[in-house]
Amino acid sequence: MSKEYYLENRRRLTRSLMSKKVPANSLIFLKGNVYYPEFDSDTNYDPLLCDPNFKYLIGPEYRELSACFHLLSENLYFIIPKPDPDTAFFAYAMTQDEAVGTWGAKGVIYEEELEKFINEIKPEKILLSSGIDSNSGHATPTYDNPELAKFATIVDKTILFPALNDLRTIKSEQDIEFLRKACAMTCLGHKQAMKNVKVGMREFNLAALFFSQTLEMDSWAYPPICGSGPNAAYLHYELNTDEIKDGHLILCDMGAKYKGLCADITCTFPANGKFSKWQELVYNVVLKAQVNAVAKLRPFADYGEIQTGSYKDLLQGLVDIGLMKGDVNEMFAKNIHRTWMPHGLGHFIGYKTHDVGPRKNDTDSSYFRLPEVKLNRGMCVTVEPGIYFIDILLNQAKQDSNISNFFVFDKIEEAKKEVGGVRIEDTLAITENGYDNLTNVPRTVKEIEAWMAS
Ligand code: GLY
Ligand code: MN
Ligand code: MN
Repeated sequence: MSKEYYLENRRRLTRSLMSKKVPANSLIFLKGNVYYPEFDSDTNYDPLLCDPNFKYLIGPEYRELSACFHLLSENLYFIIPKPDPDTAFFAYAMTQDEAVGTWGAKGVIYEEELEKFINEIKPEKILLSSGIDSNSGHATPTYDNPELAKFATIVDKTILFPALNDLRTIKSEQDIEFLRKACAMTCLGHKQAMKNVKVGMREFNLAALFFSQTLEMDSWAYPPICGSGPNAAYLHYELNTDEIKDGHLILCDMGAKYKGLCADITCTFPANGKFSKWQELVYNVVLKAQVNAVAKLRPFADYGEIQTGSYKDLLQGLVDIGLMKGDVNEMFAKNIHRTWMPHGLGHFIGYKTHDVGPRKNDTDSSYFRLPEVKLNRGMCVTVEPGIYFIDILLNQAKQDSNISNFFVFDKIEEAKKEVGGVRIEDTLAITENGYDNLTNVPRTVKEIEAWMAS
C-alpha cells in the first residue's frame, strides 16, 4: 500500500538527518505541485508538475498542495490554501478524509493558519528544501509562506535538499519495483506503436498508440519523441507533426511515469516493417555498441570507461560498414565520435528522467553525471548509444581538414537518404552482481521485423 512506502521514505530521511545532528523536534516543509499556466492563458501546462522530492516523501500531486511532517512524532500534515468559493471548484483539493485515510496524515491545515500550527508544535528547527538542480541549472521548489518569516531564526535551507539528493541516488527495492512497472508499461506502449504504425500516419499518432497501452501510468516521463526519417536526427525532436513516409526509419523515445518513477526507452524501426540496406547496417552498429555496453554494467564499473568503449564500438562499426575509414583510436582522440553521437551514453534515472547522482562535495548540492562515476548497487541508469546523420555536424567535419579524411562522404550521402538517426535505449538497475534490465522490447532486426509483421 502506498502510504507505507512514503512513510518508509520519510523514515529513511529521518535517519539520514539524525546522523547529521538535526534535532528530532524538527519540522520538514515541502512544496508539491505548482499550478503552472501557459504563458498567455490559464490552462495548466502540466497538471502533474510536482517536485520529485515531494513525490518521493509524500505521494499525491494535486494542484497547490504542500506538506509538512514532524521528525519525532512522524506526524504528517497536508497544507492547502483555504478554499475560496469563487475558485475552489476548478481543481480537486486534498480533503481531511483522504489525507487521513489514504495517506496516513494527521489532517489538512490551511496556509493561513501556519503560525498557529508551528506555535503549537514549538519545533527546534524548520527545514526547507532549496537548491539548484545540476542537470538544468534551475532552482528547485522551496516551500514558501509569509508566516514562515516569523520563524526565520530556526529555518534551515541547507541540509534537506542534499540529504534528499543522496537518498534518491540509491534506489530502494520498492523504487525499483515501481520503475520496473513504469518500464513494463512503456515497453507495451512501444510495441503497440511499432506494430500499428502505418505509412501516412502522423508522428504524433505513434505517441497516441503508446499512451493507449500505458493504462496505469501517472503521466509521461518526458514529452514523446517520435522522429520519422530526417527528424530522427534531432535528439529531442518533440514536434511530432510530420507525416510518416514509406522508407522512413522511425526513432521513438517515449517513457511512462508510474508512482513518480520515470522510464526512458528508445526503439528505432522501419515505417514499412522492413529495414532497408543502410537502415539495417547502421542499426546493427548501434545495437552491437548497446549490447556491449550493457554487458559491462556492475557495481564499481566506471561508466565513463564504458562510454569510451561505446564511442569506439560505434566508430569501428562505421568503419566496418564503409562510412568511415582509418584508425578508431585516432578518430576517438580527435573527438570524431561527437559528429555521430553528440550526447553521453546514459544518465541516472528515477524520480526524474535525468535524475540526481552522487554529490560532488558537502558544501553545495551539485552532483556528478553518470559518465563521471563508478556504478553502485541501487543506481538506475540508461544505456543509449546512437548514430545520427546531422547535417550541421557532417558539414563541419567536411570543412575541417584535420578530420575530413576519416569520412567517406559519398557513402554517407547514400546512407543518409535511408537513415536520419538510430538510438537504442534501455533503462536498467544496477544489482549486487551486475544489472537488471527493466526493458524488454524487440531489439534485433529479425525480432523487430517479425513483431511488426505479426
Ligand atoms: N528521453 C531523453 C533521453 O533519452 O535522455
Ligand atoms: Mn535517456
Ligand atoms: Mn530517451
